[in-house]
Amino acid sequence: MNKSKCFFGVNSWRDCGFQLQGTKGLIVIDKKVRDLHKHRVDKLLGVFSSVKEVIVDEVEKHKTLKYAELITQKALDFNLNRNDWVIGVGGGATLDLAGFFASIYKRGANLCYLPTTIIAQVDSSYGGKTAVNFQGYKNQLGSFYPANIIGIDTSLLSTLNNREVYNGLGEIIKYIMLEPKTFKDADIDITPLVNDESLDFEKIIPFCYQIKIKYVNDDYYDKEGKRIALNLGHTIGHAIEKQSEYPLGHGQAVAIGLHFSVYVAYSKGKLELDKVKYYYKLLKRIIPNVPYKNLTEYVTINLKQDKKVEREKVLFIYPVELGWEKEWIKNESLVHYWTKFAEVNGNVDYF
Ligand SMILES: NC(=O)c1ccc[n+]([C@@H]2O[C@H](COP(=O)([O-])OP(=O)(O)OC[C@H]3O[C@@H](n4cnc5c(N)ncnc54)[C@H](O)[C@@H]3O)[C@@H](O)[C@H]2O)c1
Repeated sequence: MNKSKCFFGVNSWRDCGFQLQGTKGLIVIDKKVRDLHKHRVDKLLGVFSSVKEVIVDEVEKHKTLKYAELITQKALDFNLNRNDWVIGVGGGATLDLAGFFASIYKRGANLCYLPTTIIAQVDSSYGGKTAVNFQGYKNQLGSFYPANIIGIDTSLLSTLNNREVYNGLGEIIKYIMLEPKTFKDADIDITPLVNDESLDFEKIIPFCYQIKIKYVNDDYYDKEGKRIALNLGHTIGHAIEKQSEYPLGHGQAVAIGLHFSVYVAYSKGKLELDKVKYYYKLLKRIIPNVPYKNLTEYVTINLKQDKKVEREKVLFIYPVELGWEKEWIKNESLVHYWTKFAEVNGNVDYF
């Protein structure tokens, strides 16, 4: 079960600061965030009685066991103990790395997350999953270790470039596809997604968060309960994110995965064509311009490494009219679906 306390809004860093006041802290921070939000970070440093920063450049590349060892050395030199704090400040990669380190350092230190990307704010900061990559494969080592406190301030998103915004939108669309009725009932306006306008993040991020809470609390350890649904779009997403020929961000890879899951659902008679077209409209602007055929090789190879693969079958999630379903699908059938989908480059008019 989760034990995180989450603060939202422009004062959320200050609220976390009250909890951290006078403590000893090791801050693992993304270099870009350190430079872009210097004033905010300097203010944060001021709340500690003693503080050390580990500034990480190109974090995804350093989300490794080796780098966790390097942080361990710095923490030992700083005499950090398990009652002190580790603070992750940055996107999902930074939080994964800081969380992974905090979870194993002296069997677990206090942990605070201050997420600065959409992905980190709607997804990775909550739910307790930490991870590092291993030999090029994503998230192969990890733990369940929820942050004690989280501060979510959407004003930090103003410095994200378009690519990172699109990445985040991929995860938001995932929630819309999982819970179309919840979004409709709450009257959340998602038309800006279709019109290429900006979403009201201050409203939509806490809303997505509430949805994630529901799924996580039902199945904290991801044992094929409800939490598996959060994998929507990720089976294919992870498979193509691993290739380096066409560098894709996490959310962009997930967007292609979501598009494919819509196709699988339609092929199985689980979605009406109208809905297929609607979801495509939402996804269209964030799907990167890569011919799907060129990704087939990576889909075929990397599907086998998916953590949800057992006896050559993948536990696959697809959207249905009012929510989602899960189904064990043979690897080879998924590859077959993908090949057909890629042949028409996912063009809905051919479905
Ligand atoms: N643990 C989980 O539950 C979970 C869930 C989803 C994703 N993830 C992980 O999260 C990572 C993807 O998340 P991400 O896209 O946030 O990655 P990221 O941390 O690599 O950030 C993406 C880019 O945004 C930059 N950035 C961060 N904050 C910024 C800001 N405010 N302004 C300008 N630039 C900023 C970073 O420097 C980086 O270049 C992957 O490693 C994925 O595996 C984890």
